[in-house]
Amino acid sequence: MAGGVVVNAGGGKDYPGKLTMFVLFACIVAATGGLIFGYDIGISGGVTSMNPFLMKFFPSVYHKEQEAERNQSNQYCKFDSQLLTMFTSSLYLAALVASFCAATVTRVAGRKWSMFGGGVTFLVGAALNGAAKDVVMLILGRVLLGIGVGFANQSVPVYLSEMAPARLRGMLNIGFQLMITIGILCANLINYGTAKIKGGWGWRVSLALAAVPAAIIAVGALFLPDTPNSLIARGYTDDAKRMLKRVRGTEDVEEEYNDLVAASEESKLVAHPWSNILQPRYRPQLVMAIAIPMFQQLTGINVIMFYAPVLFKTLGFADDASLMSAVITGLVNVFATFVSIVTVDRLGRRKLFLQGGTQMLACQIVVGSLIGAKFGFTGVAEIPKAYAAIVVLFICAYVAGFAWSWGPLGWLVPSEIFPLEIRSAGQSINVSVNMLCTFIIAQAFLPMLCHFKFILFFFFGAWVVVMTIFVALFLPETKNVPIEEMVLVWKAHWYWGRFIRDEDVHVGADLEMPSANGNGKVGSGKLGGMQ
Ligand code: BGC
Repeated sequence: MAGGVVVNAGGGKDYPGKLTMFVLFACIVAATGGLIFGYDIGISGGVTSMNPFLMKFFPSVYHKEQEAERNQSNQYCKFDSQLLTMFTSSLYLAALVASFCAATVTRVAGRKWSMFGGGVTFLVGAALNGAAKDVVMLILGRVLLGIGVGFANQSVPVYLSEMAPARLRGMLNIGFQLMITIGILCANLINYGTAKIKGGWGWRVSLALAAVPAAIIAVGALFLPDTPNSLIARGYTDDAKRMLKRVRGTEDVEEEYNDLVAASEESKLVAHPWSNILQPRYRPQLVMAIAIPMFQQLTGINVIMFYAPVLFKTLGFADDASLMSAVITGLVNVFATFVSIVTVDRLGRRKLFLQGGTQMLACQIVVGSLIGAKFGFTGVAEIPKAYAAIVVLFICAYVAGFAWSWGPLGWLVPSEIFPLEIRSAGQSINVSVNMLCTFIIAQAFLPMLCHFKFILFFFFGAWVVVMTIFVALFLPETKNVPIEEMVLVWKAHWYWGRFIRDEDVHVGADLEMPSANGNGKVGSGKLGGMQ
């Protein structure tokens, strides 16, 4: 084998090189693209629980809420308004559509320009929202924010996974999720402060401050280098080699460079990524690009993220206390993400998925039972403080489980499994399915709470059972495997292997695929940790 290349336990090559400051810094800057997404997730729930905001834009919801308070009537239904949920979820529809345009920009112009475009559009949306005079302006602003999120979420995870050395890819990619959680937390804190502003214009500050994370990623993107993969794909081969040396901190990049060029050559044979992704040999990646984001949303996490203040209000917390509880879940979300940063490249993706899923399920059962025991189906009850605190505690444990499993891995895994020729298209499918499911859940949650009541927690719990079994059976371990060699992992999988013909397996110069009967020569011939 050439140069200093060795085959690692994960079945792929370990290219020479170390984690350079250059790559670390580039990844931190790119990851800030997650801030805009996170800020938005956190800000909308808090704003929609502020009375002056409701009075101005959604007076019918405001009156219904007041009436529910006066009459002590059904708590489950007091926020059920399609127009109000449309405010939250319009962003996700816009992001869904935008991620398809972003696929082209990311492929043709490079990853950084997608990030830049995302930041700038988000900035304009923030200005419109902060100055909103009516619902139309408000929703228009949100559509622009959505376009920004679509572009950023399409490009950032791919950028991070391409920049990172294989054995640290999980850690660096999860920087994106970390920024999402920091964005959510900042938004929760800001809402906590602005809700106190006398005069009823605090919500404007909350919405306008979205300009800060937008400016960070827009300016940051201008200074980012493009990934070697993208440079090669666009024909800048000399620049790509120079960049690869710089990001890996070594001159010994020949082997990795040749493999990237080989991957790029192969990708050129594929003229239409969109129709190609439907070929049987891409079936495992396509299924994952749909299933992973769908399952991520079916954990029910955004019920907590969007509606934490509303949910805590429903549980009988006062305005202030419900925003404070949202801050607490926000903090848990940030800190628990570090658990996955530290463990994802050692334990691997599967273990985190399985552990996190189990923990979330247990918490959902407890929270559903506690709420059901108090509110029953009528939704009328006084909840003692200690009881509510225990509910919050289990909600936090649920959030922690998500924050080290489906949260980060929902972005990491799809970004590392696509071969170059379908990477941009595949990532768009991932983003759009994520946004579609987020939209459906955002739109459906309040009516669902109103009709299903506490059963809603069991509904999401049942999905967690399904997704955990899915991971156990169908998701191979991808830790440490270089991104351009991922086909080996699928080929060796007990189920997906059948979709990939031997001749579809090319991984650079000197690695051959272990054939189904074990004649190949990938290291020891075994792909570690695989099902
Ligand atoms: C999800 C979001 C969610 C957030 C919570 C992200 O990975 O895509 O929908 O709100 O995690 O931290």
